[in-house]
Amino acid sequence: MSSSNPTALGEEPAFQPLNAEEVRSCLLKAVDFISNYYSSVESMAVLHDVKPGYLRDQLMASPPMLPSPFDDTMNELKNSVVPGITHWASPNFFAFFPSTNSAAAIAGDLIASALNTVGFSWQAAPAATEMEVLALDWLAQLLCLPTSFMSSGSGSGGGVILGTTSEAILVTLVAARDAALRRTGSGGGVTGVPRLAVYASDQTHPTFFKACRIAGFDPGNIRFIPTGPETDYGLDPTKLREAMQADVHAGFVPTYVCATVGSTSSNAVDPVGAIADVAIMFSAWVHVDAAYAGSACICPEFRHHLDGVERIDSISISPHKWLLTCLDCSCLYVRHTHRLRDSLETNPEYLKNEASESGSVTDFKDMQVGIGRRFRGLKLWMVMRTYGTAKLQEHIQRHVAMAKMFEDFVRADDRFELVVPRNFALVCFRMKASGVIKDEHADKANRLLMENLNKSGRMYLTHTIVGGRFVLRFVVGSSLQEERHVRSAWELIKNITREMLHQQQHNIAIV
Ligand SMILES: Cc1ncc(COP(=O)(O)O)c(C=O)c1O
Repeated sequence: MSSSNPTALGEEPAFQPLNAEEVRSCLLKAVDFISNYYSSVESMAVLHDVKPGYLRDQLMASPPMLPSPFDDTMNELKNSVVPGITHWASPNFFAFFPSTNSAAAIAGDLIASALNTVGFSWQAAPAATEMEVLALDWLAQLLCLPTSFMSSGSGSGGGVILGTTSEAILVTLVAARDAALRRTGSGGGVTGVPRLAVYASDQTHPTFFKACRIAGFDPGNIRFIPTGPETDYGLDPTKLREAMQADVHAGFVPTYVCATVGSTSSNAVDPVGAIADVAIMFSAWVHVDAAYAGSACICPEFRHHLDGVERIDSISISPHKWLLTCLDCSCLYVRHTHRLRDSLETNPEYLKNEASESGSVTDFKDMQVGIGRRFRGLKLWMVMRTYGTAKLQEHIQRHVAMAKMFEDFVRADDRFELVVPRNFALVCFRMKASGVIKDEHADKANRLLMENLNKSGRMYLTHTIVGGRFVLRFVVGSSLQEERHVRSAWELIKNITREMLHQQQHNIAIV
């Protein structure tokens, strides 16, 4: 490092880690790295080939005492870190759910990092606070959410950008828990907690269970309602009502329902409006987890999945999954922000200020777990401001069209079957049991197919279990993906399947 302004005390140059020239020099190198990465990631093996502990073997065991040129740091990044990266940005990445990104989002995140504001209160960061409020209201408009979820609406609704969906579920659970305790006469005490019951389908992300435990709910009072193919694995409101009714009879207090729009396993959709209608009968809080599929609801053809949203209490959507905004950006909307504040507000003397006391500003510290927070609204706003609604919709629609193309390939090939109807850009499929692959070996054969595909380095996909069967999940969604990537992934799937079936046919048992 070479910044060299002499200190007032003498010859020794002062350490200036934010010297403007130094910042420019380091960032230009970082930007070059990023740009080169995006132009070459397609040719890299999607899945790393490293063993646990690989990085410790390559980098210094302790921090150096003396400074080194930034180029040394960048070289270690390129030579040691990059080989261990799973390339989520690769157009050959079809695993999990996507983590989409865009130039505008990266720029926004970079600038937010440089400004490094800590926006716990409006006073501490007016622009960051107001930007977040505005960006959330913009996204709410894209999603056609009712104004009751917007800060600019006439009610007490609004949002907050959190790091993850898990935090969104946790803070709303805590608010619902406290509201239920107040409603049932337990006041702020915890003695009533063992009577509180919460509900979700058996397809709900396990982070719900985790959040319930953190929030103090008895794991025995978490009701996972079974689902099946008759509802395409969506939550059946009748079963929900029966479970809630049974709990009331047994002396429990139905407190919270977590519905999902786009489950992680198979993209099942719980019927939001019907669930809200049931929950309202028991005064239970309804949260909708639309982490992945919520982004699709900016397109008119998918918006119906949120029908009934005006009757729920909260909804979370993660633009860091499918709306071109890099991690972390999970947007939580609540119909009554004071219900979060009632549980999460802190007001120490050293944070008191006139703006907060006036009641006319948002202090985000009272709507989240922590106090300090990043300037997350900037990247979200930059994405919407730069690309506009039309391009964002086009981005989703292009992915869905590619997923549909893949689905058609699968449907037309009698060696494969589709396992559940496709709702968004996830296709759940598997190799069928056939003459050479017996029914009892089909799961193993499909696992082997997945392993062979991933070992090739030419694509990466993951699996799930649906209805007790091993299923491959093919998710279109990388920002760099084009039709040719989906076509070549399908060619690879067909080729590897052909080889596997050939081997099995010639008594080289694969399963
Ligand atoms: C539907 C759904 N809910 C919750 C989560 C957990 O999200 P997070 O990692 O942001 O907590 C995921 C992750 O993929 C998800 O798909």
